[in-house]
Amino acid sequence: MFLNANTKAEAARAELAAHYDLEPSEAAMRATAAQYDIVKDVIPEPDWMGFAPYVREINRLKKEKDAVVLAHNYMTPEIFHGVADVAGDSLQLAIEATKVRQQTIIQCGVHFMAETSKILNPQKTVLIPDSRAGCSLASSITAADIAKMRADYPGAQVVSYVNTTAAVKAASDICCTSSNALAIVEAQPGDTVIMTPDGYLAQNIAAQSTKRVVYWEGACIVHEQFTAEELRAFREGYPGVAIIAHPECPPEVVAEADFTGSTAGMIQWVKTNRPEKVVMVTECSMSDNVAAETPDVDFVRPCNICPHMKRISLENILWSLHSGTEEVTVPEELLAPARRAVERMIEVTNS
Ligand code: 13P
Ligand code: SF4
Repeated sequence: MFLNANTKAEAARAELAAHYDLEPSEAAMRATAAQYDIVKDVIPEPDWMGFAPYVREINRLKKEKDAVVLAHNYMTPEIFHGVADVAGDSLQLAIEATKVRQQTIIQCGVHFMAETSKILNPQKTVLIPDSRAGCSLASSITAADIAKMRADYPGAQVVSYVNTTAAVKAASDICCTSSNALAIVEAQPGDTVIMTPDGYLAQNIAAQSTKRVVYWEGACIVHEQFTAEELRAFREGYPGVAIIAHPECPPEVVAEADFTGSTAGMIQWVKTNRPEKVVMVTECSMSDNVAAETPDVDFVRPCNICPHMKRISLENILWSLHSGTEEVTVPEELLAPARRAVERMIEVTNS
């Protein structure tokens, strides 16, 4: 019988309740005391009471099932600090995916990240807790669009952001992330480089590059919303505030920032510089995750939520581990060319 999404979720919830002790309890609080100690300033205790049984069961089950949890920096603090074995930006997650020894990878992030892990580990099982977790950049371009750009700019190398499907990676010469995009573009032969699919990242890189950068006009629904006016208002409202932005923001927003970098670069900047007050111009969970570890820094929060990243929850991570779903697969014929584009990126980054 076909089950609709709600019925499925109810059935999954009932099965989890039958197998695990998911009621708030003192025992679950004690078992997760180390994790709660990190997030106590950003998660109220009554909320953690609800999270604790899931954190305990996930951490137990991942050992039992030989699984590793890779989590992006935009995961909520109970995931980021509670159950992640490795947390990082897209580049760090791709590199870590090449090193994991466990047989199963639970990717807490969006679908293109899980695909990247599968491309790098075709023999392992890669699970994503909710396969509907997409990305406005990844869905903005197809392999046919890449072919069209190649025809428009003959001979130009195609540098595609990792925020793309396996098919687009396979059609590209090399991938990049927000932390290595400039180095990757500069390393390409020829005067002209095609960057896809983030138009703002491409413009921000073009401003620093010796190459002529032509680009696809995709955008991130989180970062395209920030405006330079908004940032100027924060400077006026909070004198001395440090403003740090992600390079998926429009160029005029980046121009107002004191620092621009990948999510890992932004975290490192706060931990190193310890500003009194900071605005992280990016997805909302970043400030919560960093605030948990930097109680001396005051976070002003003009953030935007990524609805795709927020599809991942403790409940569906536990379900993923319990049921072995949802498995991420990449068509056989795309594996080798997509892998070549990602591995070339890692090689250039390491060189
Ligand atoms: P990072 O590589 O900087 O983590 O960016 C990934 C992403 O999706 C940001 O929106
Ligand atoms: Fe994609 Fe933007 Fe969400 Fe990152 S934040 S996953 S780029 S939509």
